[in-house]
Parts: sequence; C-alpha cells; structure tokens
Amino acid sequence: MTTQDLTPTTAAPACAAAAAAGRHGAGEDILYKRLALRISELIQHGTLRPGERVPSVRKCSGQQNVSIATVMQAYRLLENRGVIEARPQSGYYVRAPRWSPPPEPEMYRPVARPVEVRVTDLVMQVVKAGREPGLTRLGAALPAPELFPMKQLHRTMASVGRRAPVAASSYDAPPGNRALRVQIARRAMEAGCTLSPDDIITTTGATEALNLCLRAVAKPGDVIAIESPTFFGILQIIESLGMRVCEVPTYPRDGVCLDELEARLKCCRVRACVFTLNFSNPLGSCMPDEKKERLVRMLARHKIPLIEDDIYGNLPFSGARPKAAKAFDEQGWVMLCDSFTKTLSPGYRVGWTAPGRFRAKVEFLKFVNTGATASLPQMGIAEFLQNGGYDHHLRKIRRLYASQVQHMTEAVSRYFPQGTKVTRPSGGMCLWIELPSNINALTVYERALAAKISIAPGPIFSAKQKFRNCIRLNCGNPWSEAMEAAVRELGDIIRATETTVNGAPKPQNSTSTLQGSSKHQGSRKLQTSSCKHQGSIKLQPASAIFEASSL
Ligand SMILES: Cc1ncc(COP(=O)(O)O)c(C=O)c1O
Repeated sequence: MTTQDLTPTTAAPACAAAAAAGRHGAGEDILYKRLALRISELIQHGTLRPGERVPSVRKCSGQQNVSIATVMQAYRLLENRGVIEARPQSGYYVRAPRWSPPPEPEMYRPVARPVEVRVTDLVMQVVKAGREPGLTRLGAALPAPELFPMKQLHRTMASVGRRAPVAASSYDAPPGNRALRVQIARRAMEAGCTLSPDDIITTTGATEALNLCLRAVAKPGDVIAIESPTFFGILQIIESLGMRVCEVPTYPRDGVCLDELEARLKCCRVRACVFTLNFSNPLGSCMPDEKKERLVRMLARHKIPLIEDDIYGNLPFSGARPKAAKAFDEQGWVMLCDSFTKTLSPGYRVGWTAPGRFRAKVEFLKFVNTGATASLPQMGIAEFLQNGGYDHHLRKIRRLYASQVQHMTEAVSRYFPQGTKVTRPSGGMCLWIELPSNINALTVYERALAAKISIAPGPIFSAKQKFRNCIRLNCGNPWSEAMEAAVRELGDIIRATETTVNGAPKPQNSTSTLQGSSKHQGSRKLQTSSCKHQGSIKLQPASAIFEASSL
C-alpha cells in the first residue's frame, strides 16, 4: 500500500475501521489511525518528502497532544504499509513511493560523415571546475576515495619498495614490470582472453594506452569510428592527434549498432575504431558477447583495428564478468586497453595494453613517449593482485556501485522533471540522463556548480557538442542524505531552467517531476536565479564556449 492509501479519498476503509473501532469505545484506536492519516497527508502533499525524517515520537506526541503509545501505533501502521521506515538509532523516515523506473533514452543518430572534434576548451573548463573543493561530485566518473583499498595498497607499495629499493627507483623499460604483466595475463582469462605476459605493455593509465594505440594505427586527418555519445577523454586524444571521428549510433543497452557501423566503415573510410564495449562511459551500454564476436569478425574482414577500452569490464553489477572483444580476436586486430583507475587507484596511474599485431610499434611509441611506466606503483599493484585482496575488493565494489546506481536512478525519478529519460546500466558507475528538450544542459551545469554540485554536461561527449539536453551523473559515491539532497536540488535547478517553446522561462507552478508534482525547495541553499561563480577559478560561462565553438 502506498501513501495514497491513507489519504482522504482512498482512506475510507481506514476511517470506517476507525469509526467502527469508535463504536466499540476504543478511543485510542481511532486516534492512532487519525494520526497516521494526517501524517500520510503531509507526505502526499509534499510537506514531508521521501528520505526526510518524520517528527520524533516524543515531538509528535507533544505536537499532537496524544500519548507516546498512540504515536508509536500510528508510526507502526505507517511502517507496515510501507509509507515510512525506521532507521536504527535515527528515527522514522518517509519511504520512497513504490517505484517504476523512468523511460530509457533511445539510440541517437549522429551524422554519417567524418567530423573534426572540438571539445577540448569545454572539457578542460569542466574538468578544472570539477576539482574545486567543497563540491558534491556528480561529475567525474570516479568512485569516492574511501571505496579504494588505500591503506592496503599503500602498505603493499611501501613494503615492496623497502624490499627492492633499487628496482623501485630504476627504469622498468617497456614492456614494463614483468610481475605485473604476469598478473594481468592471468586475470585476462576471466575476460576470455588468452594472453602471455609478453603480449602486454604497461602504460601510464588507460589514457596513455589509448593514445599509443591510436598513434600506432592512424595519422592526422584519419577517421576514427567512435560510439555516440563517447567518453570525452577519447575525443580529446583524437582531437589532439589531429584525427577526425565518425560517430556511430549506439544503443543505450547493447552498444554500437553493427549495421550502422558497417555502412560507415565504407562511406567514411574508417581507419580504426575506439569502443568501450563493457559498461561504456557515459551510456553504460554493454555489448552482448555474441555481438562482440560479430564485431571482431567484421573488423578483421575490413582489416580495421579495434582499440578496445575495457576500463569498466570488471564492474558488472551481478553475474560473471562480460568477455572482452579481445577474447574473439584470432588475427590480432584488437588492441585491448585497460587500467586500475576505476577499481584500485586513479593516482597510481597504472594501465596496460595488449595491442595484438601492433605490439612492436606500440612498445616503441611507449618508449619515446614516457620512457617507462613508474616502477613502484607497478610493483605495488602486482603484489596486491598476487596476494588475493583484489577479488574480494571487486566483489565489494560491484555490490556498492549497483546499489548506488539504483539509489541515483530512484532519486532522479523522484526529483527530475517529467520527460526525463535515464539509462539502465548493468555495470560501471555512470548514469546518462536525457532531460526534456527545452532544458539546456550547460545552463544546468553552470547553475549546479554555483550551488556546489558538479555534473558532466552532455555536450562534452560528442565531437560537435551535441546532447545539449543531456547530462551524465557519477554514481561512484556512497549514497547518503547529502547525496539525496544534492540530487533533489539538482532537480529544482533543472526545473527552474525549463523554458517554453518560445524560450521564455516556464512558470514553475506548472512543473512536475517524474513521480508527481514538486513544490519542494530543498534543504540545501539554492542559487538558481543567477549564476554566481564561487571559489578561485573564474569560470567563463560554459554556454558561451558552447555557442562560440558550435558556430
Ligand atoms: C572510458 C574511459 N577510458 C579511459 C579513462 C581514463 O583512464 P585512466 O585514468 O586510467 O587514464 C576513463 C576515465 O574516466 C574512462 O572513463
């Protein structure tokens, strides 16, 4: 039963029961049901919102002039009916109404021709602003630091450093630390890959791996096929190398549309593909393994390298880890790239690539690019992987990310306006949100930042800064009341930026959320009327950059 079951219109049975109880002279019985009804009305009218604390038993007893026992009975009734919930040592809270997931975005259809990439200015601004202290970080796709096994890792690194001081402070020239490559090769079996340590080259994060692989197979002016939308880091690398992209329609659940890809391979003279097939960023799509096999065969037929970014592959919410496309690679056209950024530590900057038939070229490029990957972090991670803490840790964070994504989806469906669409990832930590078309994601981004909430605006995920009404939310943070309040405030900000078809602000009393009308002003202080930039970085309005660079 939901809150509505206790409202005046639908509460007839409760009232009848109360009246009947009254006839039998059980005054307290009537009282507690009346009290329960009153509280459920407060909830239904939005005075008390999901996630908020209802008055303590003592306070309610004083306010309503009834006994503690009556309040307890009323709260128990509401609890039994799923309207409120007890939280240990904290009190009673309004439960989220029974939940139906919001609709999902459909596949986007970018132009079927090569385009130049222009995202760097906007991306750098967003990335820099996202580093400001005091933000609720819904922008960068990163877990909260406390979700990493920092203490164990640092201890392990200190210990290997003490035991092998010379190795720790010497170059470990490409292909990189052998013990680490052995561990990586062993773990790659779970992704269906048969790799030897000699197939692997360690790198400074996945970013360097992607960079090197692209440089090994393409030159300035060449066309690279990418998912649409795609991770802005991939766009930036391509932009910095003077290459162009061909954006391929991508299903939010199953990844790249292979028929569309095949058509584009021919018409756009694609030189290489860069795809994140497992829990992509930002869509969270995961290509089924049979489709991966078809993809690998198709590209091998066309002799086109696939640079596979598998940085989220270890993060399914349930079940076995999906295979990497590399598992189906018989001819060496797949260049697998990965790192420990999303699972162990972004700061250690340890990544790797298994570049198949392009191994020698990538090893050479690694050498001229950075000489070697830093030795001590490689040694520390090798030992951590060897000593068995990794699997336990992965199991823990998979469960956490699954629940955080679920909480975020529910919060979005409670607080964001009607017409909002949300992806349903089965792994990773990103949610892609398509807002109603009259909402400008860059305006939302600026106002959210002014309210100390960072988000990733949709335009940074496409070569020509499309997705103007989309945002990506990071679900890497443990769920908390502060997080709920931030999403609620974000919903208020979004609704405050809604415009009518003529571009005029939409009257606020007509806005409603995915889950009903919203009159609430969040407990966090809102600054949605003007964009006051805080902190030391003076931000150029992102929308200005957007307008300038999309001319
Ligand atoms: C899809 C994807 N690839 C690569 C990276 C960069 O990884 P690294 O920090 O290991 O360079 C990220 C980080 O957000 C990512 O989301």
